[in-house]
Amino acid sequence: RQTPLVDPFGREISYLRVSVTDRCDLRCTYCMDETMSFLPRRELLTLEELDRLCTAFVTRGTRKLRITGGEPLVRRDIMALFRALSRHLVSGALHELTLTTNGTQLAQHAAALADAGVKRINVSLDTLDADKFHQITRRGDFDRVMAGLDAAQSAGLHVKINVVALKGINDDEAAAMVRWAHGRGMDLTFIEVMPLGNDFGRKPDTFLSLHALRAKLAEVFTLSPLAVRTGGPARYDAVAETGGRIGFITPLTHNFCESCNRVRVTCTGTLYMCLGQNDAADLRTPLRSSVQDDALHAAIDEAILRKPKGHDFVADRASIKARVARPMSVTGG
Ligand code: GTP
Ligand code: 5AD
Ligand code: SF4
Repeated sequence: RQTPLVDPFGREISYLRVSVTDRCDLRCTYCMDETMSFLPRRELLTLEELDRLCTAFVTRGTRKLRITGGEPLVRRDIMALFRALSRHLVSGALHELTLTTNGTQLAQHAAALADAGVKRINVSLDTLDADKFHQITRRGDFDRVMAGLDAAQSAGLHVKINVVALKGINDDEAAAMVRWAHGRGMDLTFIEVMPLGNDFGRKPDTFLSLHALRAKLAEVFTLSPLAVRTGGPARYDAVAETGGRIGFITPLTHNFCESCNRVRVTCTGTLYMCLGQNDAADLRTPLRSSVQDDALHAAIDEAILRKPKGHDFVADRASIKARVARPMSVTGG
């Protein structure tokens, strides 16, 4: 079966994000609460099942495959999945195999990732202040992440830093983070914090509009919008002073759903057609029902027909509606 996946709005689905675990060694305040409980391991798709699932999507036109979590590098033997999936890079069917990681385990895995054909990775890091880092992640060790970044760059991986913009927490560091990242030859992307997770409404309001943040950065740097896209939702600016790029991911202030090219699968084989909606399809049952992939493909086709036009997050906290109760760690961002 080779028919590409096209949704009812004519959007081609060529980007799959697969979460391989809901576990994480950190507890970022905007992502999880301290008491987060994780799935029993038997609920998870095996690495072989994850491979079959990814491969099914690759035969249906997935060109970009991103492994996520939780924290993907805490899953035991995860490099075996990368090594297996790299055959699709070799065949040319897949154009990009990558991951989004918090960087804590990167030092051990960077070389193996590069060997598996990974070229660029996204690393989540919201601050350059070790104390603040510990405050945001509740248990992170900043120096380990730095060692991970060093290892990644030594292995030849291109790194993009993801910064969730948090009002009153890291907005004062935005320009410094840009200088730091660009000085090391890394791109940097800011992300608007999204209302996810069941206790979101009770948290202090940290939402910061990236429209406002960009205006602040434009006082310090000469920014010029770039046409370049990386297949994700970020819009980029070139920074004349540093020669680097800044990305802005603005789910709340500038909806980018019109050009959505992606779907997500969780570590239990649940397909979410949109990060900001609750509708989902079970792929684990068809995956396990037969060694043939027919039922799996039928389930994927049926789900893509239900892909919604977009999310309906709103920036106004007082009127937050359609809040998505599952945390980011379930759908992997
Ligand atoms: P690039 O390949 O570098 O373009 O990566 P990417 O932006 O696709 O991946 P990354 O994992 O770095 O994504 C960054 C964040 O952007 C995610 O964790 C989400 O917070 C947000 N994001 C990505 N896709 C969507 C989307 O479809 N909807 C919404 N609301 N947010 C998204
Ligand atoms: N809003 C925006 N970004 C989030 N992330 C986690 N939770 C949220 C949220 N509620 C980010 C992480 C990481 C990526 C996978 O998603 O910081 O960069
Ligand atoms: Fe872990 Fe990422 Fe959630 Fe932080 S945002 S707790 S690093 S899954």
